[in-house]
Amino acid sequence: MEFITVTPAARPQVALIQLNRPKELNALNLQLMQEVAAALKELCADDTVRVIVLTGSERAFAAGADIKQMAGRTAIDMLTIDQFSTWDQIRKTHKPLIAAVSGFALGGGCELAMTCDMIVASETAQFGQPEIRIGTMPGAGGTQRLTRALGKARAMEMVLTGQPISALEAERHGLVNRVVPVGQYLEEAFRLAASIAQMSPVAARLAKESVNRAFETHLDEGLHFERKNFYMTFASEDQKEGMAAFVEKRPADFKGR
Ligand code: CAA
Repeated sequence: MEFITVTPAARPQVALIQLNRPKELNALNLQLMQEVAAALKELCADDTVRVIVLTGSERAFAAGADIKQMAGRTAIDMLTIDQFSTWDQIRKTHKPLIAAVSGFALGGGCELAMTCDMIVASETAQFGQPEIRIGTMPGAGGTQRLTRALGKARAMEMVLTGQPISALEAERHGLVNRVVPVGQYLEEAFRLAASIAQMSPVAARLAKESVNRAFETHLDEGLHFERKNFYMTFASEDQKEGMAAFVEKRPADFKGR
C-alpha cells in the first residue's frame, strides 16, 4: 500500500485505515481509492475485525478527487476508467465504517466521509463540495447524500457556491454524529467503534443494511426489508446468547455466528 496505512488491530476488534498522501492533502487518486477498497475487502474477511475507522490527517481528511490526475481527461476517458467502481465497493462494506474527519473534507473527501456509516469530526473539520469552482460538479454521491442530510436549499447552496460548512453546522444538520476538540477526534471515533464492536456482528451487519435501505427505497419496502433482517437475527447464536445474557443478568459474549 503506497497511499494508505492499515492497522487491523488499532484497538481490540477495531481496524484503522489512514489516508496517507499528506503533501497532496490526501487527494484521492485512482490508486489510493483502489487501496482503500482492497483494504476494506481484506478487513471484512478478517473475523478479528468488527468495526473499521477511516481517517486522514489533522489538516485534511481529503481535499477531493485528484484534480491533477483528472484535469486532461475526456468524458470518454472518465467513462472508461470507471473510477467510481471502487466507490461502489466501499459503499457495500458490510462492517460498520466510521469516518474520523479533521480539516478539509472537500469534494470527493466530503463524499467519502458521507459514504461511511457515521462521522466523528474535529472542530476544525469543514465539509464542502467545491467542484463548481473548477467547472464541474460532485460525482461521488455529493448531490444525493448532502441533499438527504441537509435538505434541498442548503445542499443546493453548497453545491452551487462551493462554500463549505463547519463541523458544527454539519452536526446541526445531522451530517456528523459529533464534534470534538481537534486532539480528540480519532480517540472519539475509536470510542464509538469500541461500543459497536461489543455488539453481535451478525446483528450489526443486518441492522446496517436495514438503515441503509431507508435511503434506497420507499417505506413499505424498507419496513419489509427490516422485518426480514430482524427475523434473520433469530438464526444466529448471538441472538440466543444476547437474550440469555439479559435474562441471566450477565454481559453477553458475542461470537459473530
Ligand atoms: N487534487 C490534487 N491536488 C490537490 C488537491 C486535489 N483535490 N487539493 C490539494 N492539492 C494539492 C495542491 O495542489 C498542493 O500541491 P503543490 O504543493 O504541489 O502545489 C497541495 O495539495 C497543498 O494544497 P494548497 O497549497 O492548495 O493548500 P492550501 O492550504 O492553500 O489550500 C485547499 C487547501 C483549500 C484544500 C486547496 O488545496 C483546494 O482548494 N483544493 C482543491 C479542493 C477541490 O476542489 N476539491 C474537489 C476536487 S474534484 C472532486 O472531488 C470530484 C468528485 O466529486 C469526485
